[in-house]
Amino acid sequence: MNEKHANPADEVICHCSGTTRGEMQHLFEQGMDMGAISRWTGALSGCGGCEWDVAAFLKNLAEQRKSSV
Ligand code: FES
Repeated sequence: MNEKHANPADEVICHCSGTTRGEMQHLFEQGMDMGAISRWTGALSGCGGCEWDVAAFLKNLAEQRKSSV
């Protein structure tokens, strides 16, 4: 679970679907919300164990977006 990657974007955030943080960030930047990202990648559609991490990650991206405007 504590995998270290040279590039954090390569870190798998949802192990059921294999979705990485980088993939999720890319889709978020395309305007997708959590539901759309889940449907597109399959993230959150397995065990649900990544839900808190995904929600926190997307919230953080949204806050970064707001502060850069
Ligand atoms: S780890 Fe994401 S649904 Fe299981």
